[in-house]
Amino acid sequence: MGRVTASAPGKCILFGEHAVVYGEPAVAVAIEQRISVTLESVKAGETPWKIGGMHFDAKKHPHVQALRNRLWQTSQNAPGLTIQVTGDIPPASGLGSSAALSVAASAALRCARGRWYTSTDDLQNPQTWAEGYASTLEQNDVYTAENREISARQTGSPMSHYVVGKEVASLDESALLGHAVEAVAQGGRASPMDASTCSHGGAVLLSDAIESDVDYLYTRQLTMEDGERTWHLHSVNLPHSTEGLYLVIGNTGVYAPTSNQVAKVAAAIEAKPGRIKEIQTIGMIARRGIQSLKDGDFEAVGRAMSENQIMLQGLGVSCPELETLIRAAAPTSLGAKLTGAGGGGCMVALTRHPKQTSEAIELAGGRTLISRFGNAGLTIDVCENMPLWDTAQ
Ligand code: MEV
Repeated sequence: MGRVTASAPGKCILFGEHAVVYGEPAVAVAIEQRISVTLESVKAGETPWKIGGMHFDAKKHPHVQALRNRLWQTSQNAPGLTIQVTGDIPPASGLGSSAALSVAASAALRCARGRWYTSTDDLQNPQTWAEGYASTLEQNDVYTAENREISARQTGSPMSHYVVGKEVASLDESALLGHAVEAVAQGGRASPMDASTCSHGGAVLLSDAIESDVDYLYTRQLTMEDGERTWHLHSVNLPHSTEGLYLVIGNTGVYAPTSNQVAKVAAAIEAKPGRIKEIQTIGMIARRGIQSLKDGDFEAVGRAMSENQIMLQGLGVSCPELETLIRAAAPTSLGAKLTGAGGGGCMVALTRHPKQTSEAIELAGGRTLISRFGNAGLTIDVCENMPLWDTAQ
């Protein structure tokens, strides 16, 4: 029987959350904790879609449902699937669990259904994909055109051919689909930061300009209620001196969905447009932090993180539980702040003393995770007897 497993890491934002939704710069790093998605065909006579051994409920799994609409349409006779999701990223805690799930699921679905190409020249070149899901194509369309794949295939070259399995998964496509799905789940407001970090791994820098000294990945655009946003994404090769440096993540255990926090910031700015200055200040702090990161000056990185926290507190997205954990981490770390959307969820401390910092956070009531820098992005871990849906027939 066919089976595919893909996994993707969670992420931790060093600088710039919330401000990045308004086009300001930000940096996120992939963490050691991951989510794995396994797909298998359902056995004959079983319920068509199962997740975790239960009947699939689209309302409980909006990210998977949105991907299903794009990659596995029942209207096109896509067969049933069983899905298993496992991992050690706590949900709704600011560590990118939904982005990791979306990225891993989109890659697994793509492996399971194969890909059409319009030429045989270069399988890795998105320009030759018949489906059109590529950041180098008109990426805006992916947010609106549900049937893009079908129309692209119908008008595609008669020379097109079909490839299945591991090699058809793409980091760009998974990041793009992950962003599209997050945008839907967050009421139309989402930066590509989480999905791109979970897909590419390492450290990802988003900026309002194409930056030097880092590897440019692609440019993403999204039209929001109050205008169009553009982000230039880059991969940052962290200096070797990250040896001995750790991120200690403290979970408050307070449930805080990203969509609520993003809406809260949008409402605050709408009520008082002058507050966009706070967003711009976070952008300035992030720019300084990014330069320190490039220079390998981690004392300055830590200071920028702590300054970023003061601004996030002012914006109203911190909470007493986060403040308690941040205060507890401060004496043994270079800097500490909330990470992700805030309102609960997690804080992160940059530290050379992970054991002491972790103990201090635990004593203050948080549950900790420790991560090094430089973690892998999306991987296809198992890929046997593909496709699960043969669209070539
Ligand atoms: C959530 O991890 C980060 C936010 O900036 C939202 C986003 O970037 O879409 C709060």
